[in-house]
Amino acid sequence: MRSTKDNDDGPPILQTERLVLRLLEPADAERVSEILSRPEVGRMIRAICLPYPVPAARGWLIASGAEWEEGRAARFAVLKDGVLIGCTDISGIRPIQSGCTEGELGFWFDPPAWGQGLACEAATAVLKFAVARFGVHQVTATCAADNKNSATLLHRLGFTKTDRRFVWSRSRRGPIAQIGFRLTTASIAKPVAEPGLTPGNQLSPSQ
Ligand SMILES: CC(C)(COP(=O)(O)OP(=O)(O)OC[C@H]1O[C@@H](n2cnc3c(N)ncnc32)[C@H](O)[C@@H]1OP(=O)(O)O)[C@@H](O)C(=O)NCCC(=O)NCCS
Repeated sequence: MRSTKDNDDGPPILQTERLVLRLLEPADAERVSEILSRPEVGRMIRAICLPYPVPAARGWLIASGAEWEEGRAARFAVLKDGVLIGCTDISGIRPIQSGCTEGELGFWFDPPAWGQGLACEAATAVLKFAVARFGVHQVTATCAADNKNSATLLHRLGFTKTDRRFVWSRSRRGPIAQIGFRLTTASIAKPVAEPGLTPGNQLSPSQ
C-alpha cells in the first residue's frame, strides 16, 4: 500500500501502485451485477444466484454499508484508472479465543483484469488495512476445489490450507468441494511480494 487515508474513523481510501480502493456503495450495483453475472466469476461465488440481478447487488451493498458501520466488514471497490474492476473485502470480523480477532478475505475481479497481479495487489492492501484498522490476528478464506486462480493467489499471499469440505453452491445449483485457508498476522506483517515471485520464494502479502 503506498498511502492510505485511514488515520481517522471515516471511510478509508487505499492507494496501491496501480489501484485505488474505496468502500463499495449502493450506486455500484449495476457494475457489481455485471461482473458477478459473468459465469466464470459468479460460479466461483457460492452464495449468489446466477445471473446476479441489480436489485440483489443493491441489497448486498446496502447490507455491506451496515456491516462497515458496525465494524464487521470492509468491502472495497477496486478501481483502475477510475473503472471498477473488482472487489476485495474483509468480512466476518469477530473476536475469537484469547482476545484474538478473525476476519475472512474475499475477492472477485472482472476477467479482463485477471493475470496482471491486480487481485494480489488489492488483497495485500486490504490485509494490511484489516490489521491496522481492526487489529485482525488471523484471516480465513475459502475457495472451490476447482478454483485454481484463487488457490494460487491465496498461496501467494501466504495462506495455508486448513481443510476440505462439501458445501452447497447456489451459483452452481449443487454441492461442491471447498478448500479452507488461513493466514496469521505474523505472515501479514512480512515484506510483500515482488512481481514474478513464486510462493516458494515467499512472499506473503505482496505488493
Ligand atoms: C481469483 C481471481 C481474483 C485471481 O485473479 P488473478 O488475476 O489470477 O490473480 P493475481 O492478481 O494474483 O494475478 C496472478 C497472475 O498475474 C500475473 N502477473 C502479471 N503481472 C504481475 C504482477 N505485477 N504481480 C503479480 N502477478 C502478476 C501472474 O504471473 C499470474 O499469472 P498466471 O495466472 O498466468 O500465473 C480471479 O481469477 C477471479 O476473479 N476469479 C473469479 C472469482 C473468484 O474465483 N473469486 C474467489 C472466490 S474464492
